[in-house]
Amino acid sequence: MMKKLLDWVDARFPLTANYKAHLSEYYAPKNFNFWYFFGSLALLVLVIQIVSGIFLTMHYKPDADLAFASVEYIMRDVEYGWLIRYIHSTGASMFFVVVYLHMFRGLIYGSYRQPRELVWIFGVIIYLVLMGEAFMGYLLPWGQMSYWGAQVIVNLFATVPIIGEDLSVWIRGDYVIGDATLNRFFAFHVIALPLVLLGLVVAHLIALHEVGSNNPDGVEIKKLKDEQGRPLDGIPFHPYYTVKDILGVVVFLMVFAAIVFFAPEMGGYFLEHNNFVPADPLKTPEHIAPVWYFTPYYAILRAVPPILGSQFPGVLAMGVAVLIFFALPWLDRSPVRSIRYRGPKFKIALTLFVIAFIGLGILGILPATPLYTVLSQILSVVYFAFFLLMPWYTKNDTYKPVPERVTTK
Ligand code: HEM
Repeated sequence: MMKKLLDWVDARFPLTANYKAHLSEYYAPKNFNFWYFFGSLALLVLVIQIVSGIFLTMHYKPDADLAFASVEYIMRDVEYGWLIRYIHSTGASMFFVVVYLHMFRGLIYGSYRQPRELVWIFGVIIYLVLMGEAFMGYLLPWGQMSYWGAQVIVNLFATVPIIGEDLSVWIRGDYVIGDATLNRFFAFHVIALPLVLLGLVVAHLIALHEVGSNNPDGVEIKKLKDEQGRPLDGIPFHPYYTVKDILGVVVFLMVFAAIVFFAPEMGGYFLEHNNFVPADPLKTPEHIAPVWYFTPYYAILRAVPPILGSQFPGVLAMGVAVLIFFALPWLDRSPVRSIRYRGPKFKIALTLFVIAFIGLGILGILPATPLYTVLSQILSVVYFAFFLLMPWYTKNDTYKPVPERVTTK
């Protein structure tokens, strides 16, 4: 009976063919480690955000007069509304935790290198869209930080020469952040960007399955195959990696639940204190800082001094700091992919980059005192040097010989 049903479907839709191509006969390297959990976890968080978001939308009101109160209503009166909201706000931060670790894996194992450039490029576009999604979502509760954070960021567009003023009015739909801004950010946050994100994730995975996964040794497993054409160092994704990923999901959900139930505000890092105060266009908060996942770029923005009174150079530096990730596949000239076989120069450069990224993240939260500004400037130089000097230090590094086959320790 089941077989007949399956045959019926298969004659009309390539169900079994796709199941085989992407799961039971998709061969992934057998040496995946901890770092390979984060792709499937990013997928999980995407689903969590979409589902919790749908339920929030049922009670949220995208109207400047009603938005703040509707969120409070969700928190206090809607059955389990507090849970849905905390899942969504925790999910936003955890999305970035997972994506940053996922990107870091790409850096240490050279996953962006040929032939995976498009997997990486789709990834960087996902990262950009995710930033837009988080930024627009943050305006929706219409708290003080929502309002003033959006005010600061949209004003950055006003620094663009010639068209800046018009551009910022066009984005806001008003001369200040207002009801029109809230309505359009709602539309983008709830439907436009999630659709784009889903499409990009599909493209990311299609590209990945076309070339096959990289692995901690950076060895191309497709080079050595058995008589049936299966990679010698590959194992079927299902059941081996589905089971491994379930372990990751369980541990991740434990951490996630612990945050949701015991520390949903995370000391003001996941939900800022000032955002429990309704937006007041007449009262600028003393200290405006974006949510933690944007702070490295915010620190770079503040590190660049204005030229002729224009903040545009800082805005440009901030934009380039994100966009430079696109160039990575072409900046790296090393003959090996994985950090396991790279020399000291790359390891030092990567360590300095991580210190710079985290340091800038911390400085972006703190007020811009003269000392912190100098520190931000130094770390910004380190940040850019990692990319700009990469062709030099990867070419002149020493390397260990890469084994023929993957290693399993
Ligand atoms: C919504 C966000 C994302 C989702 C759902 C996602 C999903 C995935 C999945 C399921 C995999 C295969 C499993 C794994 O290798 O961990 C993967 C691989 C990969 N992703 Fe992502 N990803 C996302 C964002 C990104 C970003 C932002 C980047 C980089 C800027 C990126 C770069 C890569 C690379 C290079 C690989 C191949 C890694 C390898 O084979 O070693 N991804 N992604």
